[in-house]
Amino acid sequence: MKAGPSAIRVHVILLGTAAGGGFPQWNCWCPTCRAARITPDRALRRRQSSTAVSVDGERWFLLNASPDVREQVDCLPAPVPAGVRHVAVEGIVATDAELDHTLGIVLLREARHLQLFVTRAVRLILEQDSRILPVTAAFARVEITEMQLEQTQALPYRNDEPSGLTIMPFAVPAGPPRFAREQKPGHTVGLILRDESSGGSCGYVPGCGQLDQNILDLLGDTDLVLFDGTFWTDDELISLGIGDRSAREMDHQPISGPGGSLSQLAGLSRPRKVYTHINNTNPMLLEGSPERATVERAGLTVGADGMTFSL
Ligand code: MLT
Ligand code: MN
Ligand code: ZN
Repeated sequence: MKAGPSAIRVHVILLGTAAGGGFPQWNCWCPTCRAARITPDRALRRRQSSTAVSVDGERWFLLNASPDVREQVDCLPAPVPAGVRHVAVEGIVATDAELDHTLGIVLLREARHLQLFVTRAVRLILEQDSRILPVTAAFARVEITEMQLEQTQALPYRNDEPSGLTIMPFAVPAGPPRFAREQKPGHTVGLILRDESSGGSCGYVPGCGQLDQNILDLLGDTDLVLFDGTFWTDDELISLGIGDRSAREMDHQPISGPGGSLSQLAGLSRPRKVYTHINNTNPMLLEGSPERATVERAGLTVGADGMTFSL
């Protein structure tokens, strides 16, 4: 990350930092959801997992499109448009086909022309299993670019002009969505986003079952890491009596303890490191909690909606 406004090339805005269901989740009265409703200054509300990136601060790419996309797009900085209709979203890059990351695609159908960047495996799930793509395509032209694992490719604007941004998807350990009939390589990826002219880069991994050395090396070479902050402990849902699967069984590496993501990410010296995709049960959501202090002592940040970074 370079200092000073003149060096800013890429704007990154956290549009939603909660996992599926948002925070508080509509039907949940766990201790953190309770706090978000009853003592709101102890716990900021959060929309579902999505991030926006832009080079010029006007034309944006969404990293995942959440069910909260309408309100999220409304938060994007952009000049007052001259025309009657204006689409500030130039494209959507999806890291998987989960509902919290793709329901927003169909909700952007009024755009008339959408660009979508996905792996072949994600494309097939969106076409055949959730059917989000055929439904959206009944309303809008959906131009799909298949991303190849470990290959860097350009992110053009809708008029084909280069944005200067590139993306490189890499497979992360995780299962496919539970509604997927097949498990094909690339159904869940992380992204390395890079600005070609400044070299500024961001690693985006909202869902990851386990950080391995390959992923740590990729993330360690970036300026900003946005990483899976779903669960604090492996038995979080089980101990609250609201689930029977561990965090790892749900393909989310817990943050705390030996083998947690916090100790691994703390070892990366170059990037700024921020947790996102935070489940509503995660106690680090509480302002002033011991868990929040533990994250900050390790040099990481608990993401909140609206947080903005410049690369
Ligand atoms: C996940 O992050 O594991 C999925 O989004 C789960 C879900 O959508 O219920
Ligand atoms: Mn999710
Ligand atoms: Zn809750």
